[in-house]
Amino acid sequence: MRITVIGTGYLGAVHAAGMAQFGHDVLGVDVDATKIDQLAHGVAPFYEPGFPDLLRENIDAGRLRFSTSLREAADFGDVHFVCVGTPQRSGSAAADMTYVDAVIKGLAPHLSRNCLIVGKSTVPVGTAARLASMVAALAPAAEGVQVAWNPEFLREGFAVNDTLHPDRLVVGVESAEAEATLRQVYAEILDAGTPYIATDVATAELVKVSANAFLATKISFINAISEVCETVGADIVPLAAALGHDPRIGSRFLAPGLGFGGGCLPKDIRAFLARAEELGVEDVLTFLKNVDAVNVSRRRSAVDLARAMLGGSLKDKRIAVLGAAFKPNSDDIRDSPALYVASALHESGAHVRIHDPEAIENARTSHPALNYTTEVQKAFEGAQLAVHLTEWQEYRELDPQYLSTLVTTPQILDARNALDIDLWRAAGWTIRAMGRPTR
Ligand code: UGA
Repeated sequence: MRITVIGTGYLGAVHAAGMAQFGHDVLGVDVDATKIDQLAHGVAPFYEPGFPDLLRENIDAGRLRFSTSLREAADFGDVHFVCVGTPQRSGSAAADMTYVDAVIKGLAPHLSRNCLIVGKSTVPVGTAARLASMVAALAPAAEGVQVAWNPEFLREGFAVNDTLHPDRLVVGVESAEAEATLRQVYAEILDAGTPYIATDVATAELVKVSANAFLATKISFINAISEVCETVGADIVPLAAALGHDPRIGSRFLAPGLGFGGGCLPKDIRAFLARAEELGVEDVLTFLKNVDAVNVSRRRSAVDLARAMLGGSLKDKRIAVLGAAFKPNSDDIRDSPALYVASALHESGAHVRIHDPEAIENARTSHPALNYTTEVQKAFEGAQLAVHLTEWQEYRELDPQYLSTLVTTPQILDARNALDIDLWRAAGWTIRAMGRPTR
């Protein structure tokens, strides 16, 4: 099939390459000419394991091209996937729909043949219906253009696998014809026996925000219990393990620590609440405000704990910061808990030196006042405290014995509960962890 993927960020670029991998003829489109140029030359504009190979393989096979032209997209595609961002609107909790709307306004006037527009962006419920009205007013071939919704559940860091082997496929369609088209697009995934749910567009839109709201709730739940543990001297790590053995609860997304960040979970729960308010059903979702509040409070707790470990003041203290990305295996620093904490330490007068295996460039661009290093041991040199904020595998493999010779004071705050406490203690470190007792 001839497929366009409009918006080539973390989601769209991988989706475009994935569709090409399934044998479709794919055109990736973005307004960012630099990004399109990079992609066209087989260069990944962001860090995502496995993506560079998938990109180059499909460009070389002649199935994947890139363009900045929505007119070209309209002429080319049988199916147009909309994958642009829906960030939080500035000064509001709601989603900013500017980019989604701009795609429809730019694309629809050129649609002179039958096609299916498929939204993948995370949007407020009711968006597909609204876009369908826009298309009906703008597209020359309006009769033959339909809008469907096909939420995406991929996780950054696992985007290639999640695209090629998703754990479920959800399509929101308004006609049997639209469903047949999507079945054709995803034939390979369906043949593999992937659970498949076809529903209406509003339900499909809601599936996505509900999934992210549930995940956020699960994380804030364990972090709320973590605060209780801190108060009574109990230990959140064995507690979470014990809960996780109950298959009704499950151990995934139950990792206590610094909480969630990124370009999805935080803004999605806020946009969900904002939409619920518009619909007059905010009361039933009030708990999401607590989910958000608990999440933000963990970041402040980490700063407070760091201050306490440094004797009550951060002023002029040298701190090694491990991690800038919002999670490991990603260079994404959007709403990163790690950068939030690093900035707060800096603003309180500490001298931070931040290391991250992949996200330094992005972090430097967004937080130019902070200090960075690409060599982890440089972060430790002369430090009076180290704070572990993003749980990269590399940090689990550090040698605490050697690092203790570099620092001024061997003490570390493990805000992700991912380090081997006994190993660090045996090497002479004072280690404190979120939700764990001081021993
Ligand atoms: C999230 C969802 O997991 C995807 O299913 C969804 O497709 C995506 O948002 C999206 O809406 O596009 P992602 O933002 O890549 O994916 O990251 P997650 O793996 O969900 O992690 C989110 C945050 O939660 C990270 O900051 C992570 O460190 C934190 N987290 C995760 C915890 O604090 N504890 C956990 O147990 C798990």
